[in-house]
Formats: sequence, C-alpha cells, structure tokens
Amino acid sequence: MKTLKVLVSTACFVGMAVSTHAEESAALSIDGQEFTIQTAAPAHAENLDEVTSGWIYRAKETQALQLDDFDNPGFVFVDQAIDLWNEVDGGEGKACASCHDDVEQFAGLRTTLPRVEGGKVVTMEDLVNTCRTDHMGAEPWKYSGGQMTAMTALIGLQSRGMPMNVAIDGEAAEFWEEGKELYYTRVGQLDMACSNCHEDNYDTMIRADHLSQGQTNGFPTYRLKNAKLNSTHARFKGCMKNIRAEPYKVGGEEFKSLELYIASRGQGLSVETPSVRN
Ligand code: HEC
Ligand code: HEC
Repeated sequence: MKTLKVLVSTACFVGMAVSTHAEESAALSIDGQEFTIQTAAPAHAENLDEVTSGWIYRAKETQALQLDDFDNPGFVFVDQAIDLWNEVDGGEGKACASCHDDVEQFAGLRTTLPRVEGGKVVTMEDLVNTCRTDHMGAEPWKYSGGQMTAMTALIGLQSRGMPMNVAIDGEAAEFWEEGKELYYTRVGQLDMACSNCHEDNYDTMIRADHLSQGQTNGFPTYRLKNAKLNSTHARFKGCMKNIRAEPYKVGGEEFKSLELYIASRGQGLSVETPSVRN
C-alpha cells in the first residue's frame, strides 16, 4: 500500500515518469536518467521488506527541487567544487586536475563507499584528504566542512543513478558487524536506537517530519533548514543530539562503521547526490 501512495503522489511531475519494473522495484525516469527509489531489501537487512529512498518521504516541493539541477541549491556547491578541483594548493604546487584529468573518471566510486582497506573503513572524505596530504602537500580539509562536502558532492554526482553496492564480506565483515551493533544500541536520555525511528517507525510522522528509513544514498544532502550541504556524519550527529545522546566523533571509527552498515541497508537504491532535504 505504501508503494501505491508514493507512486500516485509523484506521478504529477512534468517530464517525469514513475514505473514499477519488477514487483519490488520502483524507478523514476527524469530526462532519460533512471533512479531506483525503492527496492526489495537485501537479505542482510532482515527486519525490512523493502528499502526506500528518503526522497519518497519529502514534500512534493522538496522532491521537485532535487529533480531539477537548475533549481537544486546543492548545485551551487557542486560549482564551487569544480573551482576547487582546478585550484592549486599545497607545497607540491598541484591541483586535483593536475593528476586526475576529469572528475568523470570517478563514476561508480560513490556506490562502493565506504570500503574497508588496510584494516580501516575508508570513506570518500578519507580518499580526498589522502590526496591532499600525500599527493599535494596540502592541509587536510575539515571532515564535514564546506570544501569537503562540496567536493564529495561533485565526486558523488558522477555516480548519480547508479545502485549502491558496498562490500560487506571479507575484511569488511567485522566493521559491518560493529556498525550494525551501533545501529541497534539504545543511547541518550531518550534511550533510543537508530532502528527505533528508522526501522520500527519509518513512514510515520514525528512532529512535523515524515520519518524515512534514514538511508544515505543522497549524501551529501542540501538541507533547506540551514542552506548548506550536510555530510553523512553531520546527519548522524544531528540524530544523536536529537535523542540527547553524546554523538560519536565526526570522521571517527564509530561513525565510519555505522556508515558502512547503513550503506549496506540501502543496497540497490540509486545514488541521488546531491539530494535535497528539509
Ligand atoms: C599528485 C597527484 C594527485 C593529486 C594532485 C590528487 N590526486 Fe587523487 N589520487 C592520486 C593517486 C595516485 C590516486 C590513487 C590512490 C593513491 O595512490 O593514493 C588517487 C586517488 C584518488 C581518489 C580515489 C579513487 C579510487 O577509485 O579509489 C579520489 C576520490 C581522489 N584521488 C580525489 C582527488 C581530489 C579531490 C584531489 C584534489 C583535492 C586529488 N585527488 C588530488 C593522485 C593525485
Ligand atoms: C527520534 C527518532 C530518530 C532517531 C532515534 C534517529 N533519527 Fe535519523 N532522522 C530522524 C528524522 C526525524 C530525520 C529527518 C526525516 C527523515 O529523513 O527521516 C532523520 C534523518 C536521518 C537521515 C537522513 C535520511 C535522508 O534520506 O536524508 C539519516 C542518514 C539518519 N537520520 C540516520 C540516523 C542514525 C544513524 C541514527 C542513529 C544514530 C538515527 N538517525 C536516529 C529521526 C531519528
């Protein structure tokens, strides 16, 4: 039933078609680009029947903003990142463009992150900062700062429409387990876990907010509320603060494991970077 409601409410957009391919998968077609916004849950997300993009739960006006690259305010930051891409910085006298001719070479990368390498969870932010410190001799950017979220939006955009597909086996398994544990652990004065809202109560109203599954396929996301891009970890932090918990460190191990686990709950959803949320 949930599905039907969504399909009807979005069908009014001009130039946009919504279709159900397989029984369990819904796609949006915008200017010939396909987005999977809803799909059957992967086997490891045992408490969910379907996975749904956060886009589905937003107001029509917000949904429309995301779908139009000219109106989507996230693109102001994508443009800033194009400038940063070409800007020389650091002791080596290099710009990103000195070594990577075109940012389009990163198509697909966003769908596989975070990934586990050398006994650590590696995020997009880590990859960018490694290049800055090791290849450019430049200062690392602040993990959730404006330059970093702009750059992760530009790189993430190259994978827009592609299905999330993070590895959770092999070396990744222990970090994935850790993330899962965090997801289900109650914390804070309100004594709640991520799952209490995003698994047990999604598609209900919490004050003025329509609760989603707390997926990460749209990050970094443009928040209308504070008129800037919001990183995955900044959102995690915000949710922990809302339940009066002491948030884990942005860019720290806990949030990276949590990011891996949550990405795996959204396997198959299209990358929507940069998405728009309230
Ligand atoms: C001096 C050359 C050089 C510069 C400048 C450079 N990079 Fe890199 N980058 C590399 C190399 C080489 C790799 C491959 C991994 C490694 O050895 O670190 C890489 C890897 C990456 C990756 C990961 C790709 C993957 O598939 O895993 C990203 C993302 C990236 N760079 C982004 C950037 C950005 C953004 C900038 C500018 C802020 C930048 N790089 C500047 C050389 C460079
Ligand atoms: C008290 C309920 C509540 C709890 C508990 C909670 N959140 Fe949220 N979360 C929200 C609300 C409300 C929003 C904004 C509406 C939405 O997208 O669901 C949100 C949004 C999100 C989003 C953005 C989704 C999108 O599509 O943009 C992510 C990611 C997220 N939460 C992750 C988490 C994580 C991780 C935890 C546990 C550390 C957590 N949340 C705990 C209420 C909660």
